[in-house]
Formats: sequence, C-alpha cells, structure tokens
Amino acid sequence: MSKQNDRALRIYNEVLGLERLHYGIWLPDDELSTEKLKEAQERYEDYLVENIPDNVASILDVGCGTGILTKKLIGLGYDVEGLSPDITQKNNFIENINATFHHSTFDDFSVADRYDCLIMSESAQYIQMDKIFENAAKSLKKDGYLMICDYFVLPNATGVLSKSGHDFEDFMDHIKNNNFTVIAENDITEQVTKTLDFGKNMIEKVYKAIEIGTEKIREKYPRISKLVLRLFKNKIDKLKRQTQLLDSDGFKLNKTYRFVLLQLKS
Ligand SMILES: C[S@@+](CC[C@H](N)C(=O)[O-])C[C@H]1O[C@@H](n2cnc3c(N)ncnc32)[C@H](O)[C@@H]1O
Repeated sequence: MSKQNDRALRIYNEVLGLERLHYGIWLPDDELSTEKLKEAQERYEDYLVENIPDNVASILDVGCGTGILTKKLIGLGYDVEGLSPDITQKNNFIENINATFHHSTFDDFSVADRYDCLIMSESAQYIQMDKIFENAAKSLKKDGYLMICDYFVLPNATGVLSKSGHDFEDFMDHIKNNNFTVIAENDITEQVTKTLDFGKNMIEKVYKAIEIGTEKIREKYPRISKLVLRLFKNKIDKLKRQTQLLDSDGFKLNKTYRFVLLQLKS
C-alpha cells in the first residue's frame, strides 16, 4: 500500500475545515464547538512540542497528515522531514512546505541513522507493530527518540471499538523487547474523548436535519419512502454501527489514549 487516499481524513480536512487530523486535548469546561476542537488540537500539538527533548535537532513527522505539525516544527528551527503514503497529503505537502517529503508507508521506509527524533502523532495505529520498532531503530541516530501519541485497545475490549488500534499490552511488550527505554508516559484518555462527543453531536444534528427535510416526502409518498428505507437498510445499519465509534464512554471502556516518549538504548 504505497499510495493511499484516505477519504475519512479528507472529510475532516475538506468538509469540516479542520487542518489537523488528531483528537486534541480539551479542557474540562470546553463546550462542544468547532472552535474549541481547533483549540484542543493546537493544545495537543503544543504538548507534543514541549515534550521534545532538548538535544533534538532533526525530526521525521511520520504520518504527517496535512503537515501542520511539520510546519510548526520548522518554524521552531528543527530540521524536519514529512512522511505519508497518502497521495492528497503528498501533493499538499509539496505545494505548501519547503521540506523533504517521503511518499511511503513507514512499514516500507528505509534510511539509516538519520533522525534524532521520530514523531508518530496518531499514525502508529496504521503501522504494523513490528515495523514501528524495527524501522524506528534503523532510522534513528544513536540515543534517538521515538514519540508516539495514539489510542490503543485495552485487554477484554469488545465490539466495534475493539477493532481499530494496536493492542496496548502487546505494544508495551514490544517496547520491552525492542531495545527502547520509556522516558515518559501519560494516559490522556480523559482529555481527548470530547472529540467523540463533538462528532456524535454533529451527526445527530445532521440526522435531525434529514428527518425534518424529508418529512413532507414521507407523508406524501409513504409506500415509496418505506421501500427506499428497505433498500438502504444495510447502509443505514452500517452508519448506525459507525456512530457507536463516537461513544466516548465506550471508548474509555475499550481503549486508552497514550503519550509515550521512548529512547533507543545505546
Ligand atoms: C489520523 S492521521 C494523523 C495525521 C497527523 N499526524 C496529525 O496528528 O494530525 C494518520 C496519518 O498516518 C498516515 N498513515 C497511514 N498509514 C500509514 C503507514 N503505514 N505509515 C505511515 N503513515 C501512515 C495517514 O496518511 C495520515 O497522514
């Protein structure tokens, strides 16, 4: 899968106007608004930047999305490169950012001893677990850092929410078995899940608008309306299942969202 075009991420970016493709760190009293989501996403990015160790100069932004973090890091004086397998992201990066871009998955990425730090902001979940550590160890300089911020699946997770993300216990085992030391680790699940409440809220508003907008047609043509509903039953059921992915209580029961900073052992 060397070239991808992630439509879900394009919807966030092109339809919702979100420049960032991660959850964000919310404040407890934040209302559910696009403005607050944007602030939460910026706060999350600041958090990642604050946690970059002092001796880091060169960084690879792995799964760089729209390249907004890459740009920020360049502005702060870091020597940064971006990587993504996505063709839209590649075109956007090349057009807007004056830095090296690698059009590849990290799984297939191969350079030796080049970076002081790799940042995987919500991209580790897409990379095969073995390859995260194998290719990070190869591409990092001596004593280099691997920063991962992402969600993981908890033991005993069930249902749709257990389907995406790496298994957390397996991830922690991989750290132990792969020559990395944990420098920092933080569970930020509570701070990120308002993004799901925001998404659910928006979808419910869209459903309501469709219901109101089709009311007259349903009254005028009840039989045809029932037939259409029957024809689209599978699609509607699929949408309902996907809405379960936006259940923040379910997320907290089945997943954990972690910040982890690792260092390659000499
Ligand atoms: C949820 S987005 C996160 C984007 C960005 N890092 C951010 O925090 O906004 C996931 C990113 O990982 C990229 N990606 C998907 N599969 C990948 C892989 N196997 N190797 C590296 N990046 C991958 C996607 O194209 C996208 O850029």
